[in-house]
Amino acid sequence: MTQAISRPAPSMAEKIDSIDALCARARIMPVITIAREEDILPLADALDAGGLQVLEITLRSPHGLTAIRRLREERPHLCVGAGTVLDRHMLAAVEEAGAQFIVSPGSTDDLLRAALQSPVPMLPGVASASEIMVGYALGYRRFKLFPAEVCGGTAALKALGGPFGDIRFCPTGGVSTANLQRYMALPNVMCVGGSWMLDSSNGWDAVRQASAEALALLD
Ligand code: 3PG
Repeated sequence: MTQAISRPAPSMAEKIDSIDALCARARIMPVITIAREEDILPLADALDAGGLQVLEITLRSPHGLTAIRRLREERPHLCVGAGTVLDRHMLAAVEEAGAQFIVSPGSTDDLLRAALQSPVPMLPGVASASEIMVGYALGYRRFKLFPAEVCGGTAALKALGGPFGDIRFCPTGGVSTANLQRYMALPNVMCVGGSWMLDSSNGWDAVRQASAEALALLD
């Protein structure tokens, strides 16, 4: 009988390196909720064609885990993460599905501790200095600021840069082509997340075009 060899989880420093690499590749991270299973591949392909290859698939619909599994199998060149991970059970499920990174909208002590043991890097959600300090004490240095615009947007990020000089953020929630450049100009912003480019009511090519147009704003 062969026994699975359990490897220790990567160190926080290694996870931070992975997050930095995927955020640098992403610049803009689509936050995707799959409404219909048949949308999984065409939506991912439209984003990919527009230049967005790092995708956060939320667990807000019943198709989230399926989407992560299928994209890992059928689009291995994409970087596929899981979003809306709310507790350690969801964390285990997305790990099993093959998620390459994990995003949560907020932070609980239990989730932060569970993710420390996970081989997959997590970007915990925060909305305040106190929440950052809870994650900081456990070693986290990269966070999702959510909901970014409601939390004070670029002004909040500038202010947080004072006490938290070694922390970098992925602001998400209310980011759009109207404010994307202002966010990305901040030294403590590593990428932005959002859903504005996902409107497919005018077809998949509209998603490709919205993605390409958003990325072009950053060149
Ligand atoms: C998220 O959960 O991160 C948001 O739904 C994405 O925010 P947006 O829809 O305002 O872009």
